[in-house]
Amino acid sequence: MTLKMKKATSPAETARILAEVRREGLSIGLVPTMGALHEGHISLVKMSLERSDYTVVSLFVNPKQFGEGEDLDKYPRTEDRDVATLEELGCDLLFMPDRDSIYTDTDRTKVSISSLGDHLCGASRPGHFDGVLLVVAKLFNMVNPDHAFFGQKDAQQAVIIQRMAADLDFPVRIFLGPTVREADGLAMSSRNRYLTDDERNRAPRMRAGLVAAAEAITNGERDASMLKKLVTASMTEGGFEIDYVECVDGGTLQPVTSANGTILLAAAGKLGRTRLIDNIAMKVGPEGAAETLLEFPEWSRYE
Ligand code: PAF
Repeated sequence: MTLKMKKATSPAETARILAEVRREGLSIGLVPTMGALHEGHISLVKMSLERSDYTVVSLFVNPKQFGEGEDLDKYPRTEDRDVATLEELGCDLLFMPDRDSIYTDTDRTKVSISSLGDHLCGASRPGHFDGVLLVVAKLFNMVNPDHAFFGQKDAQQAVIIQRMAADLDFPVRIFLGPTVREADGLAMSSRNRYLTDDERNRAPRMRAGLVAAAEAITNGERDASMLKKLVTASMTEGGFEIDYVECVDGGTLQPVTSANGTILLAAAGKLGRTRLIDNIAMKVGPEGAAETLLEFPEWSRYE
């Protein structure tokens, strides 16, 4: 176990540490998190350790991305365990700011995005992506990373962040890590720990529906409404209160009627009080169809 991980709680301290890192000519990778780390986060930290000379993990439960009545107050906090996990992984710097070092009462600036947030989680969680973009823009400015790592599980978030980074000229390359899953297919999420045993047993039905739809695509089905029916049926069987089941273009995130090119099949729903999301991206062409990760080519102008 390496015990060399530094911890910073203020942007100024972070800037001081990173100025030295930059003087040494090292590349910096950033993995933004809200803590309650699971294997999904760990895989992103490992990606950063592989691709960057110096890895920064931020841990901040960002109040601005939680809506009224959402789970901000009960969002899981496992700080001691998170610190130990990151130390063991070999993370170089843990940036753990408190609310007041990120936001002030005089803040007035918003970061919002058009169209990419119209559907999926953007439609059901108004203001959510404004909150995500604001904090990620601040983190990008505070850390000035060469690379930043996000999970495909939050595919819409990743697309929106990539767009913001390109539009606002953050010279950062965004990498997407594949969704890490439990043995029964359930996507890892900090929120899974809210599930009762019974809900946990039913939770994989969302993934099962998405897999059924992906298989249908592989077998030639292109009709988005048929694909959505397969996902909906499986989630209904699992007792989900469905928030959305959508088939959207993987670049524009606008609904499509036919699955062609790179598409994202995405679903969200509640089991009891717990909201879960998942998705599968598929590359569909005349020669066939296969699961894929969404791709972000636009960083290349900073290579
Ligand atoms: O994906 C998350 O955990 C959060 O949305 C992020 C990117 C850390 C911003 O708060």
